[in-house]
Amino acid sequence: MHGMADSEHAASDIAATQPDRYTPKLSLAERKSLLRKQLLAARARLSEEDRRRAGSALRDHLLDSPEIQMAGTIAAYLSISTEPSTSALVFALWKRGSYVLLPLLCADNDLDWASYEGPDSLTAGPRGLLQPAEPGRGVGAIASADFVIVPALAVDRSGNRLGRGGGSYDRALARVGPAVPTLALSYEGELLDEVPAGPHDQRVRAVAQPAHGIIRLA
Ligand SMILES: Nc1ncnc2c1ncn2[C@@H]1O[C@H](COP(=O)(O)OP(=O)(O)OP(=O)(O)O)[C@@H](O)[C@H]1O
Ligand SMILES: [Mg+2]
Repeated sequence: MHGMADSEHAASDIAATQPDRYTPKLSLAERKSLLRKQLLAARARLSEEDRRRAGSALRDHLLDSPEIQMAGTIAAYLSISTEPSTSALVFALWKRGSYVLLPLLCADNDLDWASYEGPDSLTAGPRGLLQPAEPGRGVGAIASADFVIVPALAVDRSGNRLGRGGGSYDRALARVGPAVPTLALSYEGELLDEVPAGPHDQRVRAVAQPAHGIIRLA
């Protein structure tokens, strides 16, 4: 797009996502796309062990949270590819007695929700996803959650969230009541000064990071 050497791409991608009078005007979709590429490239450098270690640190922070401890129903997700691993977290929440809802990806990228009934109750879903074998309870079922845990590639201090680009969680989070805590799981370095966001983008109220724990967002 900029006609630069490959070695310059990482730096130019960072500059392009930040407000700067010297960078050309990029559309919101272009700024999101550049930032996604940069964040996914950083995640791709992590090992399986890094992902697992991040996942167990995140699990410990969340299990310590009073809001999680009080939540009867928790909406969560099973991590894929380079996301911090959530299998230990999902298992621990269920083992501790929470009612855990996991997403079923619909053909239009919306999310249906089904009950997690333990590690043996999972089955292969679309796009390499592991999903509950239980029947879906409807896209509105997320409204019954007392706490909502979502994936993100990055968040900013205002709670703006960048996902993988399907808009699935923008639709799901729009159905969550204003008093319900919503939290994104991330690696260190993924809490940014600014994440590009438009009118349909839903914010999260907190982020959890392996070393920093749970951070409230405005
Ligand atoms: N409420 C909605 N109803 C229908 N489509 C939506 C809605 N919200 C977002 N979308 C669609 O999703 C597309 C991608 O949105 P966006 O780039 O914000 O994804 P994202 O937030 O990164 O992904 P995700 O929410 O899945 O993590 C939008 O361009 C839009 O077409
Ligand atoms: Mg979005």
